Amino acid sequence: MANANNFFRTNIDEMLGYSPGEQPQHERLLKLNTNENPYPPSPKVFEALAAVEPIQLIRYPDPVANKLRDAVASINHVTRDQVIIGNGSDDILTMVTRAFTDSTREAACLEPSYSLYHVLTNIQDSQMKKIELGENFELPSNILSQLDGVKLFYFTCPNAPIGNRFDKQKIREICKAFSGVVLIDEAYTDFAEDNCIDLVNEFPNVIVSRSLSKSYSLAGARVGYGIASKNLIDGLMKVKDSYNVNVLSQVVATEAILDQAYFKECCDKVIQTRTNFKHELIKRGFEVLPSETNFLFAAPPCDAKKLYDSLRNEGIIVRHFPNQRTAKYIRITIGTDEEMNYFLTTMDPLIEDIK
Ligand SMILES: Cc1ncc(COP(=O)(O)O)c(C=O)c1O
Repeated sequence: MANANNFFRTNIDEMLGYSPGEQPQHERLLKLNTNENPYPPSPKVFEALAAVEPIQLIRYPDPVANKLRDAVASINHVTRDQVIIGNGSDDILTMVTRAFTDSTREAACLEPSYSLYHVLTNIQDSQMKKIELGENFELPSNILSQLDGVKLFYFTCPNAPIGNRFDKQKIREICKAFSGVVLIDEAYTDFAEDNCIDLVNEFPNVIVSRSLSKSYSLAGARVGYGIASKNLIDGLMKVKDSYNVNVLSQVVATEAILDQAYFKECCDKVIQTRTNFKHELIKRGFEVLPSETNFLFAAPPCDAKKLYDSLRNEGIIVRHFPNQRTAKYIRITIGTDEEMNYFLTTMDPLIEDIK
């Protein structure tokens, strides 16, 4: 009898798949583990969904999602041909990995950062160089020499799971001096003070990826986008799946993006709650790292894994990353003020018990 594993390419056989945060489908829990938005999507989204005609489901979707590209282009002050839409920003990461890496073309990413990059390069049978962040999770001073020979650099900004943003001037220097492609993963940028969108018109090797999962409350619709020069977008169009974004997702994402007033109101509320919640954690003896995202990465005044487990028993899910450098922290998504108050009152006695 054939060994099923023998059917696979060696790199697929040997790799671990991506391990997503827990997504409970039935239990009633306070879910603060995968950085979803606590507020509903724009009301315009539901009006547009109700107006969907049968023919729209009978036919294939627009393969390149032009209406949505135009909405994305207008809010980012670029042209339609500089935009590509993905089935989540993970899909943009997949396209970029397909296009720029293989067994002879090495990639690099920050360490720690988003673990999906490793899965994607493993699939390509590409090597991955880890750029270890400094003591305070800052960029190392010799980053350019570490990037020597690398073809694709996944640069997460703000970084996840840490939450910090890197100095824009330093990013500009990297983009200028680096000979490969820089993918600036801005999944959390709508909660940040600044972003790198202007770099796509300054440098021919920069792609910015964005997500609608966090700031637009559309994780379930799976929509993200990439912005770059027309030249890079034309190349990525060749490697994307043909109908990668379904009709309903194109409709809801377009409406959500066009309702900028609602979007800004939700982002502002999350940022305000983040500030208040950070103070509350500090009062309780947490070390809280700077965050320009919709989560906080914080070291509790007790064992982090034990706190994670105790919170889970009380129906609150956060995220714990057991690797050496991240093990003393938990990552907490910012919910509503009420949710964060509930979190705090539930957590206080648990910390006392663990201590
Ligand atoms: C750094 C980073 N990039 C990309 C993504 C993927 O987001 P999306 O839901 O748009 O695929 C995530 C999701 O958690 C993330 O943390």
